[in-house]
Amino acid sequence: MIMEQLGCCLLQIFVALAISFLVTAQDQSGFISIDCGNSKNSSYTDSVTGIKYISDANFTETGVSRSISSDFNSSTLPQKFWYVRSFPEGERNCYTIKLAQGKGFKYLIRASFMYGNYDGKGNASVFDLYMGINKWDSVVLSNESSITNKEVVHALPTSSVSICLVNTGFGSPFISALEFRLLKNSSYVTDFELLALHRRLDVGSITNETVRYQDDFCDRIWRPYNFPSYKIISTSSTVDSEISNSYNLPRIVMSTAITTDNASAPLEFHWVPGDPNAKFHLFLHFADLEKLQANQSREFNIFQNENHLHGPFSPDYLQSTTLFTTNPMSGESIDFKFVRTNTSNLPPILNALEIYTVLDTSQSHTDEQDIKALMSVKSFYGVRKNWQGDPCLPESFVWHGLSCSYDETPNRITSLNLSSSGLVGEIVTSISELRSLQYLDLSNNNLSGPVPSMLSELHSLKVLDLRNNPLLGSIPSELMEKSKNGSLTIRVGGNADVCASSSCQKKKQIYVVPIVATVSSLLVLLAAIVVWIIIWKKRARKQPIIRLGSLEPKNQQLSYSQIQRMTNNFETKIGEGGFAKVFLGYLVNTQVAVKVLKSSVQGYKEFETEVKLLLRIHHTNLTSLVGFCYEKTNLVLIYEYINNGNLKEHLLGGNVRVLSWEERMQIAVDAAQGLEYLHHGCKPPIVHRDVKSANILLNKKFQAKIADFGLSRSFPTESCTHLTTVVAGTDGYLDPEYYATGWLTEKSDVYSFGVLILEIITSLPVLQIDRASSKRYHVSQWVMNLMKTGDIKSIVDQRLRGNFDLSSAWKAVEIAMTCLSLDSVERPGMKEVVRELSECLALERARKRRNVDSDTGKSNTVTRNFRESEVTPRAR
Ligand SMILES: *[C@@H]1O[C@H](CO)[C@@H](O)[C@H](O)[C@H]1NC(C)=O
Ligand SMILES: *[C@@H]1O[C@H](CO)[C@@H](O)[C@H](O)[C@H]1NC(C)=O
Ligand SMILES: *[C@@H]1O[C@H](CO)[C@@H](O)[C@H](O)[C@H]1NC(C)=O
Ligand SMILES: *[C@@H]1O[C@H](CO)[C@@H](O)[C@H](O)[C@H]1NC(C)=O
Ligand SMILES: *[C@@H]1O[C@H](CO)[C@@H](O)[C@H](O)[C@H]1NC(C)=O
Ligand SMILES: *[C@@H]1O[C@H](CO)[C@@H](O)[C@H](O)[C@H]1NC(C)=O
Ligand SMILES: *[C@@H]1O[C@H](CO)[C@@H](O)[C@H](O)[C@H]1NC(C)=O
Ligand SMILES: *[C@@H]1O[C@H](CO)[C@@H](O)[C@H](O)[C@H]1NC(C)=O
Ligand SMILES: *[C@@H]1O[C@H](CO)[C@@H](O)[C@H](O)[C@H]1NC(C)=O
Ligand SMILES: *[C@@H]1O[C@H](CO)[C@@H](O)[C@H](O)[C@H]1NC(C)=O
Repeated sequence: MIMEQLGCCLLQIFVALAISFLVTAQDQSGFISIDCGNSKNSSYTDSVTGIKYISDANFTETGVSRSISSDFNSSTLPQKFWYVRSFPEGERNCYTIKLAQGKGFKYLIRASFMYGNYDGKGNASVFDLYMGINKWDSVVLSNESSITNKEVVHALPTSSVSICLVNTGFGSPFISALEFRLLKNSSYVTDFELLALHRRLDVGSITNETVRYQDDFCDRIWRPYNFPSYKIISTSSTVDSEISNSYNLPRIVMSTAITTDNASAPLEFHWVPGDPNAKFHLFLHFADLEKLQANQSREFNIFQNENHLHGPFSPDYLQSTTLFTTNPMSGESIDFKFVRTNTSNLPPILNALEIYTVLDTSQSHTDEQDIKALMSVKSFYGVRKNWQGDPCLPESFVWHGLSCSYDETPNRITSLNLSSSGLVGEIVTSISELRSLQYLDLSNNNLSGPVPSMLSELHSLKVLDLRNNPLLGSIPSELMEKSKNGSLTIRVGGNADVCASSSCQKKKQIYVVPIVATVSSLLVLLAAIVVWIIIWKKRARKQPIIRLGSLEPKNQQLSYSQIQRMTNNFETKIGEGGFAKVFLGYLVNTQVAVKVLKSSVQGYKEFETEVKLLLRIHHTNLTSLVGFCYEKTNLVLIYEYINNGNLKEHLLGGNVRVLSWEERMQIAVDAAQGLEYLHHGCKPPIVHRDVKSANILLNKKFQAKIADFGLSRSFPTESCTHLTTVVAGTDGYLDPEYYATGWLTEKSDVYSFGVLILEIITSLPVLQIDRASSKRYHVSQWVMNLMKTGDIKSIVDQRLRGNFDLSSAWKAVEIAMTCLSLDSVERPGMKEVVRELSECLALERARKRRNVDSDTGKSNTVTRNFRESEVTPRAR
């Protein structure tokens, strides 16, 4: 059938430019090679191709692994066919592969199938193969040993692809292997994102062997094909020896070609598509293999079904040129003819050719953010159902519990029903990323914890059903407002601990039970109260363990608008220093300290690296960094909120309760453990650089946590006023050796820690002014002078009235003084400091026990305020 429109199939030249890619031996960096059905842990290198295959365990959740019958195994059978993954359950089963180079990149994707009588039925099933939402092909295998490869060139519209096998009623689908090969973006350029391979031929092969990796760096499979009527020409010279075009064609394929015997006769080929409406794209690869003499010329025109497409064209000597159709062709027979021009005395040639069919991708896939959010919901709760492939398409496979809107492009999720799905844990905040959600049903699950206020970001939400879950706390005010103005219906019945009235917003201790207490439900009410008491008790006990760790790593970077929301537009300032303001915020309904920095010394990359390192550090005696924000000039760090002030306030402040000696020693041990962890438990070790009482935070149980560590390289420390100098730290705490040499080690922190111990012992400011001489003197000088007198009671905070163990106090002073050695080599390491301080604590405890024994009840009141554990557990 002759094409109607002449202009529809113009060929365009793709010429290798001088700036094209150097031909280099390629590694497998753009490859993913999956041996389906192979055992979970195994990976191997194929002995023939050298390609490394991995098991498919990470890419699919369903199916069973089977091995082919040994009757169909042979020494020449590639190992990837030894096992298959079979899918006896479910109509559609998918592989999901996330690609490192995602969206916008081009991949060759190949699925391979060999039946091998793996199920002993002797008949291979017939099933359909989908690339995401698009029908790719049907898989039909003629016998047990036949091998079928299905291949596409895919310009990825999303960063991950799902490949699905659909049971069409003719047996369980199965698959042997999946292979991904990164292609150059500038190769196979058409208007279509999905091209399925029809033929890829190495014409004029002299070896008659299939060519693939490592001859083809992109691991295309080239079948030898010879036209009986044409002559083969070949060269022993190297084609594309220095540069190749973006198709990176294998040299062995390009070094042979076909040509006509009769120089004036045209070179012709054709194919007959099964479907005359199928659209084809053709890629023709040329390189002249004969060095032409001055009186020779090879020049020809290319015709498709008698229409002139391109020419005159002369292939370059030993240099690949690819010609391809820019518009797709269709018809009952597609004929190609290369006709020599009348000035040319050499016949046309052809080295290789590829024919692709265009796959229909007119259907819109689902919004990528929606998919991402659903995937995170799926993995958080371990949802099984049929949640595979695209959530909304094909329409017969819409994920259970979902409704989609197909009016928009891309499709959006409008309803999510996870009622009675056995969900356990908190309400995952990624639900709030399903921005088009109108109906959310989480009822009848085992969801605990608070109702996240982020749900109010679902602006289209009309119904929120949370009934029958052990949720805690109050409904966030934003949601309550929506409910009040009628735009949102909230159902919370059966949640014993959810407060549905906005009046209880801040008073966390008061829980209003939102069950309408009809007479018959009084018993329920009673039961609820019992449950509430149990939970409240559990909560109270668990309090120090703030569950911020549940925040998913990818959510640790927050946007500035999220920061504004979580701090209620910076409503409550809880602190301010030279370089930062600290605000109270709420993250997943937990209080956090939001530190807004005024400037950064470093660039974003360094900041990010450092922050990500710190996000991984968790220790009982270190304030956890739980998130951060870096947007333009806005730098924000989010920390665990420690709500009982800092040590400095407790030591020097006038109006707080005086810390007992035992409490002081416990705080010293806590802080020392935190520092020890930074020095010896972190890789690379972290030097705090600004150890001081103001940076030791206390919680309600007087447990100490070190704040503000690790960012010293990114940010000036609070009290350092000499931004231009390299040496940073706080006056009075600064290691003199570091100050003199600028050489920072962990021992500088040890020095500062020595100063801190003296503060803890004396409750005196680090630097004082002598009234008489108005000279500044350091607390250590003051202590040293008194040590000579041997009067320990005059050193220790007078407010303790001698209520401490003397040897414990002596020991503490001695530790402090060794920490303050001018030569850093003489200072102990933090491990030793921890050990020594623990002894101080033990001595004091022993004294107290003695006192209790002799004077029952008197000291008990002091210990009450204190926790029980002797040594804090380390969260390493
Ligand atoms: C895979 O490795 C895990 C431990 O790493 C082991 O328990 C399991 O048996 C291994 N599975 C197979 C199939 O080798
Ligand atoms: C699966 O993923 C895990 C974690 O990413 C990785 O450690 C493991 O090697 C992977 N297994 C295979 C077979 O690729
Ligand atoms: C196939 O044969 C090879 C030896 O040629 C053997 O190592 C391998 O285990 C066999 N595979 C199966 C699935 O039988
Ligand atoms: C690949 O090329 C297309 C245009 O042909 C472009 O839109 C896309 O961004 C490119 N992708 C990459 C990764 O360069
Ligand atoms: C295989 O299928 C064909 C038709 O689909 C059937 O005639 C034949 O009996 C089957 N063979 C076996 C072993 O089931
Ligand atoms: C299996 O089918 C292929 C064609 O798909 C054929 O070449 C081969 O000879 C067949 N093998 C047997 C054992 O029938
Ligand atoms: C390749 O096949 C052709 C016929 O198709 C034959 O004439 C030639 O000898 C074969 N070459 C080799 C190396 O087998
Ligand atoms: C060569 O081809 C031309 C054109 O097809 C034809 O006219 C001529 O007879 C052919 N010559 C021989 C020797 O076959
Ligand atoms: C081209 O020139 C060579 C000598 O350089 C001569 O032998 C040959 O016959 C010429 N060929 C043609 C087609 O004129
Ligand atoms: C070559 O063919 C064109 C038409 O295709 C014709 O116009 C031209 O005169 C011919 N030249 C020679 C030298 O025969």
